[in-house]
Amino acid sequence: AENMLWGGRFTEWTGGLDPLMHKYNASILYDKLLYKEDILGSIAYARANAKSGIISNTEFTEIERGLQEVQKEWEADTFVIMPNDEDIHTANERRLGEIIGKDIAGKLHTGRSRNEQVVCDMRLWLRNQIQEIESHLVAFMKVIAARAEAEVNPPDLDSGVIMPGYTHLQRAMPVLWSQHLLSYGFYFANDLERLRETSKRVNRSPLGCGALAGNGFDIDRDMMAEELGFTGLVLNSMNAVGDRDFVTEFLQWGSMLMQHISRWAEDLILYSSTEFSFISVADAYSTGSSLMPHKKNPDGLECLRGKAGRTFGHMAGLMMTQKGLPSTYQKDLQESWEPMLDHVKTISDSLQIANGILATLTIKPERMKAALDPFMLATDLADYLVRKGVPFRETHHISGRCVAKSEELGIPMNELSLEQLQAIDSRFGEDVSDTFDYERSVEMRSAKGGTSRARVLEQVKILKDMLA
Ligand code: ARG
Repeated sequence: AENMLWGGRFTEWTGGLDPLMHKYNASILYDKLLYKEDILGSIAYARANAKSGIISNTEFTEIERGLQEVQKEWEADTFVIMPNDEDIHTANERRLGEIIGKDIAGKLHTGRSRNEQVVCDMRLWLRNQIQEIESHLVAFMKVIAARAEAEVNPPDLDSGVIMPGYTHLQRAMPVLWSQHLLSYGFYFANDLERLRETSKRVNRSPLGCGALAGNGFDIDRDMMAEELGFTGLVLNSMNAVGDRDFVTEFLQWGSMLMQHISRWAEDLILYSSTEFSFISVADAYSTGSSLMPHKKNPDGLECLRGKAGRTFGHMAGLMMTQKGLPSTYQKDLQESWEPMLDHVKTISDSLQIANGILATLTIKPERMKAALDPFMLATDLADYLVRKGVPFRETHHISGRCVAKSEELGIPMNELSLEQLQAIDSRFGEDVSDTFDYERSVEMRSAKGGTSRARVLEQVKILKDMLA
């Protein structure tokens, strides 16, 4: 027990911790990833203690030099984790003592608790990871915007790329492929806004809160926060050590992002099936079958869809862990580490894969066009009569009867004769034939946010401005 950082009060130890208990309790195997954040936090803490006079400037310089040595060992992969190193905080402090001697190293932790240290490390790390993730999200959104713009009217096509827009997975109305892409672009635009908001709450300093009650040596918390690049403080000391909302919020954020990515992936999986054949996923993001020689499966997209479940699970798990906890630090909170680490990796990888898939995707405009069906213009037919002054509720019914007639006769709706249409309603005129045009239908949706070309290009611009 003497060897443990906290061993003083333990009296009945003979053989130390139950070995399984030691492993069960230790976090070093994963929190060692944050050795650098832990060291930066310690240097800032020691500097602030020197400022308030609780350690001398010479002692601070020694501590700083020692910690930098420890960091070098981690970087060179020569740091040896000892059996009693419970977590990254105890490991670094133990090693510091070996390098500069326990007399000075023993002063580093004055007034400090691992309860503040752990959240300081996590907040620093997560803040930096969020920046990375933001850049991956922005890169993906740039591909969305660029494709949406280029494919409004590709040079090798005389018409735009028009596809069936679906509701209930039933053919609904013609839309531009770019409009479909942008529909996801705007989900991600909200994700980007939310991430920037979350990042503000992550990037606050808990240092100087002690175990729960605050620091007893009048430490300058603002000075430490500034040194570490935090934009403010987690003010209340009990809140600071007990709070993992900054992790939970990030998990919630990522779950919603993955929900969007998963839906997008589902669309593309469907569209890449032979039955649709609207798109083809590049070989680089597909895999084959060990049995069926002809198979090319959209595994990249399926992984994206599948990983969404994993992220939701982490989020729900951590929320459950916290729901009945008493205030301040409890060891249960150590359960926030692994979901956070896994989430960052999953999301960062997923965004890069999604980007690669979209950037290399082939679209098949002729197949999209072949899937259009004149019934998708039934609303335009109703709108035609609206423009002649007929109330929409009436035109809806009239157009519905044209649909029924077409089904009854087995003639596509656009091939019904004027006489057949006029037999249903005498207000149909010669110009009704203009209605049966997919291009026109798309261009008619020209109010803000609609699928007309000009409105799609306007959306592209708004998205691009957000990414600039
Ligand atoms: N490994 C611990 C965690 O991640 C560090 C804090 C430990 N504090 C304590 N009082 N046991 O939560």
